[in-house]
Amino acid sequence: MEIPAYFPRGWFAPEAFSEPQQLLAAFFNSSTVGLAILDRQLRFQAANGALAKMSGVPAGAHLGKTAQQIFGDLEPLEVTLQHVLATTRPALDVDLSGRLPKRAEVGHWIGNFFPIKDGSGKVKQIGTIVVEVTNQKKLEKSLHSLTARLLQIKDDEQRRIARELHDSLGQYYVRLKMNLDVLSRHELEPDDKAELFAQSMQVLDRCISETRTISYLLHPPLLDEAGLASAVRWYVDGLGQRSGIKVNLYVQQDLGRLPEKVEMGLFRVLQESVTNVHRHANSPALDIRLGRKSDQVTLEVRDYGRGIQPAQLKRFQETNTSGGVGLAGMRERIHELGGWLDVRSDKGTIVTAKIPLTRSRKKSITRQHRKGKSAKSDVA
Ligand SMILES: Nc1ncnc2c1ncn2[C@@H]1O[C@H](COP(=O)(O)OP(=O)(O)OP(=O)(O)O)[C@@H](O)[C@H]1O
Ligand SMILES: [Mg+2]
Repeated sequence: MEIPAYFPRGWFAPEAFSEPQQLLAAFFNSSTVGLAILDRQLRFQAANGALAKMSGVPAGAHLGKTAQQIFGDLEPLEVTLQHVLATTRPALDVDLSGRLPKRAEVGHWIGNFFPIKDGSGKVKQIGTIVVEVTNQKKLEKSLHSLTARLLQIKDDEQRRIARELHDSLGQYYVRLKMNLDVLSRHELEPDDKAELFAQSMQVLDRCISETRTISYLLHPPLLDEAGLASAVRWYVDGLGQRSGIKVNLYVQQDLGRLPEKVEMGLFRVLQESVTNVHRHANSPALDIRLGRKSDQVTLEVRDYGRGIQPAQLKRFQETNTSGGVGLAGMRERIHELGGWLDVRSDKGTIVTAKIPLTRSRKKSITRQHRKGKSAKSDVA
């Protein structure tokens, strides 16, 4: 077959166009992007199934209708089509948004509109290619709000640490300085001197213990040194004392060491789940289970509190948004490690994180070797 002069030279082998009508039909019928041909009055002459799915109108029912009748006030569709007619040039990658007459919620599309000219160069029709991007836009939006929320949380966290440092350690240091001032400037009776020394030692002990608590909560050193089981036990001990919640901890006896990232990920899931219980659940008790079966490690945090509202839980399951970043962040973290996170709520709430171990086991061995430590088992 002779390739018509208007095809760019060298782009096609002649046999590619040997059956032009079948070719067009195959493209139209099989495409998952919306395809349509409009006349100069912007009436549909053809629309494929994918476009029908987007518009909510059967493909055949498009014929003879105008773009406005099918797509309503989708912005900026009408203006773009008129522009193609007026300039005889294509309009590419046009962002389209709006509520279509047959669809309930606002949608988003990217459209390409190109002139189809007759032999004299006059625009006879407009070819249209449309891709729906509503889900991507939704994800983008939730990612934006998640990022904003993360930054907010970081600010809050830094403010909290600053306040804690100021109110606790700061006050102790002031006390110490005053004591040292008195000791250095005044002639004191031996008994008074001894008392001031003893008092200063007490204050110093509190400084050491506060520093340790703050630093442990930011990053428990036990996690690196002794492993997840020990860090979890340390965390749970402190929690029992701080919160008054009765915590039942079940850690598998031969849990052993896990890859560094898995230990960190599970520890953060534990911290967030427990913080949620403390803040939202009003639960008298809490069960924490940590175990390992062949090549999978599982952490379960269960409370017996008021539970998560069904609508809120559904939103989290479907869109990974929950109003905060705690649940979504946990899920992201666990997905990053190749695992999955499930949140259920009935009588109380159960957060379960499962991570396969095969992928990163090699890394863990390398890490232990590098630190010159042997794998250590933790006993419940
Ligand atoms: N254990 C729980 N019991 C009851 N409700 C919960 C529990 N965990 C979470 N929720 C509900 O789910 C919502 C979302 O939790 P998420 O951890 O994502 O955010 P948050 O705790 O509100 O804020 P943050 O971003 O600081 O974590 C909470 O606001 C709360 O209403
Ligand atoms: Mg939270």
